[in-house]
This record gives sequence, C-alpha cells and structure tokens, in this order.
Amino acid sequence: MTTDTPSFSPGLEGVPIAESSISRVDGQAGRLTYRGYSIEDLTQHGTTFEEIVALLYDGDLPGKARLAEVRQQLEAARALTPRQIEFARSAASLTHPMFALQAATAVLGPTVNDFEPHVDDAYDRGMALIAKVGHLVGVIAQAVAGRPYEGPRPGESHAHMMLRMITGEEPSALHEEVLNYLLILQADHSAGNAGTFTARVVTSTKAEPESVISSAIGALSGPAHGGANEHSLRLFQSIGDPAKAQTEIERLLNDRYKIPGFGHRVYHVKDPRAIVIQRLASQVIVHQREKDLYQIALTVEAVATEKMGSRGLFPNVDLFSGCVFAALDIPIDFFTLIFAASRTAGWVVHLKEQWASGNRIFRPTQIYTGEDQRVFAPLDAR
Ligand SMILES: CC(C)(COP(=O)(O)OP(=O)(O)OC[C@H]1O[C@@H](n2cnc3c(N)ncnc32)[C@H](O)[C@@H]1OP(=O)(O)O)[C@@H](O)C(=O)NCCC(=O)NCCS
Repeated sequence: MTTDTPSFSPGLEGVPIAESSISRVDGQAGRLTYRGYSIEDLTQHGTTFEEIVALLYDGDLPGKARLAEVRQQLEAARALTPRQIEFARSAASLTHPMFALQAATAVLGPTVNDFEPHVDDAYDRGMALIAKVGHLVGVIAQAVAGRPYEGPRPGESHAHMMLRMITGEEPSALHEEVLNYLLILQADHSAGNAGTFTARVVTSTKAEPESVISSAIGALSGPAHGGANEHSLRLFQSIGDPAKAQTEIERLLNDRYKIPGFGHRVYHVKDPRAIVIQRLASQVIVHQREKDLYQIALTVEAVATEKMGSRGLFPNVDLFSGCVFAALDIPIDFFTLIFAASRTAGWVVHLKEQWASGNRIFRPTQIYTGEDQRVFAPLDAR
C-alpha cells in the first residue's frame, strides 16, 4: 500500500543525515573509531589532542613534521583580542559558563555575514576555532574564580594551557596526559549526535563557522547530551555517601528518573569511552572525596545495569567522566565546556565535510496535525 504521508521517525532515529568518513560508532560492538583508529589505541602512548586534530583534519595520523606544523598553527591561532577577552569575562559574570562560552564563541565571528565566498578559509577558520575555544574556556574559568587574565604561554600544549588556566595551578605531567586523553575521547562521535547534527544544519545555511560552533555548543549544553557529565556528578554529590547509593538509585529508578550518564541512543552495550575513562580514573583518583564519588558511580552502574541492561541500557561516557574531571581539580561547571572545546575539533571537520559534499540545505518535512481551512473572524467579532 502506498501513502502520501512519509513515516515519522521521532528524534530522526535511524535516519542517515550525512555520508561521513570522520568517525564511526558501532553501537552493537561498542566500538568508536576516528578515521579507522580505535579510541583505545588513540588514548595510549602519550598521544596528544593536537595529533587527533591532525588525524581528523587530514584523515591520517601525522608524522613529526606535520604534527609540529599543526601545533604551531594552533598556538599561533589562539590569540584573542583584549575586547574578546573582556566580553568573555563579562559574560561569565552573567550566566552559566557554558552559555558564556556559547556567547563568546559567537562574537569571534567576522563583522560581515557572508561565508560562502570565503569557504576556502574553512581550514584556517576551523583551526582557529579549535585553538580559541580552548583558550576561551580558560578565560571564563579565570573570571569565575575571580582571577585576573593570564593567557597562553609560548610552547604550551593545548591541554596544558586549558588545565593551567582552568585550575590556576601548574598541571602535573600525569594530569596533562589524562586531559589529553579526555579531549581525544570526546573529539568526535559521528554526524548523528545532536551537537554535530546542529553544526551540520547551521553549516547548511552557509552560516559563518563561528556561528556554527556557537550553535553546536548550545545543543551540547543540554542534560540529555553533553550536560550529562555535570548532572551525573551533581547527583553523586547529592547522594554523598557510597553506602546510601544503592537505595537512592533504586528509588530514583522506581520514580522513572533518567539517571544521567546512563543509556544511549546508539550504544546498546557499555560505551567504549566509559571503559577508557575508567582506566584513567584508576590513574588519577587519589583523594577520598573522588574515591567516594567514583564508588557511587560504580554502584549506579551495578544497580541500573541490573534493572535496565536487558533493555540495552548501559553506562555512557558521562557516568565516570565527572569523577575524572573532579580528580583533575576542574570545577563541575566546566565539565561540559571541556567537552565543547574538544568536540570543536570534530565539528569543524564536519563543517568542512558538509561543504565538500555539496552542502545542501537541511529542509526536512513535518506531519501536520493542526486544523485546516478555518473561517477567520475579525477581532471585534471574536
Ligand atoms: C541518552 C538518552 C537521551 C537516549 O535517549 P533515547 O534513545 O531517546 O531513549 P529514551 O529516552 O526514549 O528511553 C527509552 C527508555 O529507557 C529509559 N531510560 C533511558 N535512559 C535512562 C536512564 N538514564 N535512566 C533511566 N531510564 C532510562 C526511558 O525512561 C525509556 O523507558 P520507557 O520505554 O519505559 O519509557 C537517554 O538514555 C538519557 O536521557 N540518558 C540520560 C542522559 C545522558 O546520560 N545523556 C548523555 C548521553 S551520551
């Protein structure tokens, strides 16, 4: 039987929105690859975020010369003008740091709104966004902590710059390495997630790259998406005592509360990023405070998996990431900003891919359910 009404897929579940060769999510096998390399392999051997930027951009792992070039390019592109810094600090005093980042990223854009003639600049504009968004996270953290602006240092890696600016402390080599791995783990996750889909939709209108990334940051902020890392740690903090975790999680599940850090649209096994993050947790969690939070996360995993594993619901990336961010002394309000800084690498490469694929504007349809052909009555007659 044929019908004029297209079938409706809520949340566009199962609807491909792009052809992409950047990353692949295999939700049945629990596998995530960037350009064919598994995230397990990419988070060993001291691999840096800069290497992954090169991998995502070029499609291949960089050699030493190419890596030096990308490092140099990111370092050169980090600079913010005094007014951009002032704007970001001022936004940080008005709103949640994530919204301040969204606003401060938007104002990196040019005064002329006409990207199409400049599309060949996408490579440089993308690199600049990766560099500047990471820098802005540090600027906003300094403002929230009431510290004066102290910018990037020459020769400093992206992870070192972010960690130093966010915490106000000189990071240890271990903490820098772990932040590199966290940045790598969150750098891309196919075209289908809400943030990257948003980036693709905004790109399709031929908008400026800064506007694309700012919009994607807004999508990422939600608790059903990137905001879940902040929400999960807040939940663990509110439970407080690992001994109370089981009863509390059972109560929440009985109340049909959606446990942050649990469940995924695509993964129906444990999220492979969660497994890597647990490896990192075992390296950096030393203080009792984070040990307790991590123990609560493990109890959440056990109780929720027992109840919902048979329905294909398992821990996602955000169940354990907050405990690791906390162990790096990153304030809870900044977890999602780090995710955004990392995912900017994926977003700008999707922007480039979207343009290279012909960039047809997204224009899905709807199934209209409202009234039709009503008789209009002027205001006096109503
Ligand atoms: C990620 C998420 C949005 C996926 O959503 P989805 O594929 O649309 O699945 P739904 O929200 O429709 O949930 C399907 C069922 O599983 C349940 N469920 C999903 N995630 C759950 C969670 N975290 N805790 C408890 N129940 C959950 C829903 O209540 C629903 O049950 P029902 O069929 O009895 O109504 C969802 O799992 C969620 O909100 N998780 C918590 C937030 C989070 O961690 N987000 C980060 C993702 S990386």
